[in-house]
Amino acid sequence: MMESQIQKQTVWCIVNGETVEREVEPRLLLSDFIRHELGLTGTHVGCEHGVCGACTVLVEGKSMRSCLMLAIQAQGLEIQTVESIGKLKHLHPLQESFREHHGLQCGFCTPGFLMTAIDMAQSGKTFSHEELKEALSGNLCRCTGYQGIMNAVAHYFEQIGILRTPVKKGS
Ligand code: FES
Ligand code: FES
Repeated sequence: MMESQIQKQTVWCIVNGETVEREVEPRLLLSDFIRHELGLTGTHVGCEHGVCGACTVLVEGKSMRSCLMLAIQAQGLEIQTVESIGKLKHLHPLQESFREHHGLQCGFCTPGFLMTAIDMAQSGKTFSHEELKEALSGNLCRCTGYQGIMNAVAHYFEQIGILRTPVKKGS
């Protein structure tokens, strides 16, 4: 079928607190909807098949790979992207922790790590270092060697009282 013949569908959802509505092709990925239809380019796309975690957003408060979901599946749902958690002049404490503990280099993976960690922070659970490492292991980073990211999330979790084992001195 020619591209122009594909029947578009209306989808509406709530993105970062605002209701948005667009006509989209049924095959459009949520990641592309967020980036290209809404212009929220903080959500990154790496592998496009659920492996790297760069495209992670919150759907109804739970972390979700937006490249594994169609935009039309988001009908009526609440989506949060990295743009919702902090601004350049007013960073979220987790973003401050990434900055302070060198949790990023190129920054491509960072939005995915942030949204994954926000989901963990909102889960009502507490984490040991091992559990934290395990929970973050689904997100890939090509630059940092992960230690800075681990330290950044661990310090933030310690700040908000959900890290069961204290952060080691000097990390
Ligand atoms: Fe979605 Fe890699 S772009 S997991
Ligand atoms: Fe470059 Fe993670 S900071 S991919």
